[in-house]
Amino acid sequence: MKSTASIAFLLTLLPGLPVAFRLEDLKVQAAYHVIYSYTGATPPTELSTYIEQGLVGGVILFGDNVNDDLPAAVEGWQSAYAKSPAYNGTPLLIMTDQEGGEVRRLPGGPVSSEKEIGQASDPQQAATQAGSDAASALAAYNMNANLAPVLDIFRTPGDFDDQYGRSYSQNATLAGICGAAFTTAQQGKGVLATAKHFPGLGSASSDENTDEVPVQLNVSLHDIRFIDEVPYKAAIAAGLDMVMPSWALYPAFDTEYPAGLSEKWIQHELRGRLGFKGVTISDAIEAGALEAFGNDTNRAILASRAGMDIILAAAKNVTQGQEIVTALAKALSVGTLDRKAFDEATSRILNMRKKLAKSA
Ligand SMILES: *[C@@H]1O[C@H](CO)[C@@H](O)[C@H](O)[C@H]1NC(C)=O
Ligand SMILES: *[C@@H]1O[C@H](CO)[C@@H](O)[C@H](O)[C@H]1NC(C)=O
Ligand SMILES: *[C@@H]1O[C@H](CO)[C@@H](O)[C@H](O)[C@H]1NC(C)=O
Ligand SMILES: *[C@@H]1O[C@H](CO)[C@@H](O)[C@H](O)[C@H]1NC(C)=O
Repeated sequence: MKSTASIAFLLTLLPGLPVAFRLEDLKVQAAYHVIYSYTGATPPTELSTYIEQGLVGGVILFGDNVNDDLPAAVEGWQSAYAKSPAYNGTPLLIMTDQEGGEVRRLPGGPVSSEKEIGQASDPQQAATQAGSDAASALAAYNMNANLAPVLDIFRTPGDFDDQYGRSYSQNATLAGICGAAFTTAQQGKGVLATAKHFPGLGSASSDENTDEVPVQLNVSLHDIRFIDEVPYKAAIAAGLDMVMPSWALYPAFDTEYPAGLSEKWIQHELRGRLGFKGVTISDAIEAGALEAFGNDTNRAILASRAGMDIILAAAKNVTQGQEIVTALAKALSVGTLDRKAFDEATSRILNMRKKLAKSA
């Protein structure tokens, strides 16, 4: 690393510098960990300003952001970022939910839902096609990360995942084959894949939506490990880039924290037991499921402390992302966030972004 950003980054590791000076550098580091969002067809000017200052790690786009001007806007962000103090040769993460079927933010494929793929005559081939189609859809908008595939194993017809055809199959082995094929095909075309929602929302009923309300899933640890986690093993073996934990509470393993705020789920289960070495990314930090865990900045610190590498500030408000960046930097400066663990997370994120630099 030779850029000014890496010099700034190294300075943050030296003790004894004035706190105010270091806080600015800590913000640049914290920003790699935060994904911003905004509302409507026109990107707010503050977003570009924060990008130029190196205070943005990426952007998640929703349907109301998508129009013919978006690809040029994304290109503009990347050019502005390349001149920022945060730039180290790797791009901003520009992401969306292009799962397939009903859940698609962009024109283009995958046309088939996960459920239709699981029911195809050759599910593995259909999932490969879907991963390739998703990569093409994102590439047309200059995006580089997809919040798919969904690896949840649904339990009953019409439940949380099945109502929108978001689960490949009740057969966890088959879901793993599909999830791995999707991942391989999409990542092979230069778009990062994200398996969600670990360890699984498959046992949630139709109205148990973590975006809206706290959700407790009373599934046994045995079922989680021998049903819900099965496809993760396959996707991880295929070289999966990112995992998004769910915001549901699973008392079988952690009675206090939802998976995405849980050291047990992230460190012990996902990294320890399943051996995942990639990047963890949170679901929307403003989700209703987290109402007991304070405001968005409190939640972001809890999530980072538990092992969440990237925080999704998905409230469609640029201020939310900026406040989280500042809060993470302050937490690092006063030691409420562990510096060594955070540095390791930064390295994971930047290493993942290196893959994108080549294809950019
Ligand atoms: C589950 O899917 C796998 C892979 O397609 C298949 O070999 C197995 O027989 C299926 N199991 C059941 C119970 O259908
Ligand atoms: C889950 O268990 C709790 C008690 O531990 C109970 O209050 C709740 O109703 C259960 N949920 C379901 C859906 O069975
Ligand atoms: C969140 O709450 C903390 C107190 O726990 C407060 O210091 C902080 O300003 C709040 N953040 C926002 C964005 O409201
Ligand atoms: C964005 O969030 C900030 C505080 O987090 C709030 O003051 C502001 O009103 C919000 N803007 C919009 C457009 O919702």
